[in-house]
Amino acid sequence: MIFEDIVQHLQEIPHIPPDRGKLLYDFIIETRPERILELGFAHGTSTCYMAAALQEVGAGSILTIDNEGARSRDPNILSLMERTGLESFINPVFAERSYTWELMKLLEQQTEAGQTDPCFDFVFIDGAHTWDVDGFAFLLADRLLRPGGHVLFDDVTWTQSECAGQDWVEAVPEEERDVAHVEKIIQLLVVPDQNYTDFESDGVWAWVRKKPASHTAEDRSDVVASLYARSNAARRSFLVRRYVKRLFRVS
Ligand SMILES: C[S@@+](CC[C@H](N)C(=O)[O-])C[C@H]1O[C@@H](n2cnc3c(N)ncnc32)[C@H](O)[C@@H]1O
Repeated sequence: MIFEDIVQHLQEIPHIPPDRGKLLYDFIIETRPERILELGFAHGTSTCYMAAALQEVGAGSILTIDNEGARSRDPNILSLMERTGLESFINPVFAERSYTWELMKLLEQQTEAGQTDPCFDFVFIDGAHTWDVDGFAFLLADRLLRPGGHVLFDDVTWTQSECAGQDWVEAVPEEERDVAHVEKIIQLLVVPDQNYTDFESDGVWAWVRKKPASHTAEDRSDVVASLYARSNAARRSFLVRRYVKRLFRVS
């Protein structure tokens, strides 16, 4: 489905706005991932942008996981899939508690005789945004990500204190509330991992790529950088560039 058609279905639905939907859509068109893993679908908006691009390239599938509670969203992912006619590209999983448990089952399926066979080409992590859940989710997803595959993190700078006043935030120790957990995951689990390269961020999203099997120091995929060069995303501003250097600890 072309972008102009899918955006008509999705533009009023949280959480991903059309300009980011376009980046995601174009990324899928460019990289043609065979299998996508999404952690956190909410209404299914980001899922449907990706599925529309898969339909356009004619192949691929998305395994997407959220909680049981996502069934009661209006609209929910099932109705959005039906409305857009993209059912055949999306396999939604409603976890009883957490996608980290569902990832255990996936690892179990993919592991034989002590070897895990990675099966995803792209992982979009847009769920809990906490160190405990998404730090672990990244480490699990890494085992399932094929060499050369990408990971996208949303809400890099989000802190729990942005939801101050809500009961669940008051239960979080103060020290943890003002810290951007996704940023810590990137700085402490992703960047120091020698298997990851091609770091890109626009200050809200952060993209990383697992090195392909035959990677050399000179190899660099510019797929995400060129998507940004073509888009109006804020990545070009001085402040964002300064933040990106700090995030990835690059000079
Ligand atoms: C920001 S929303 C996802 C938005 C969606 N990716 C989009 O752009 O349209 C985050 C979702 O993650 C889900 N989530 C948070 N922690 C989770 C967990 N541990 N297991 C499963 N789902 C989780 C929430 O239920 C929520 O629907």
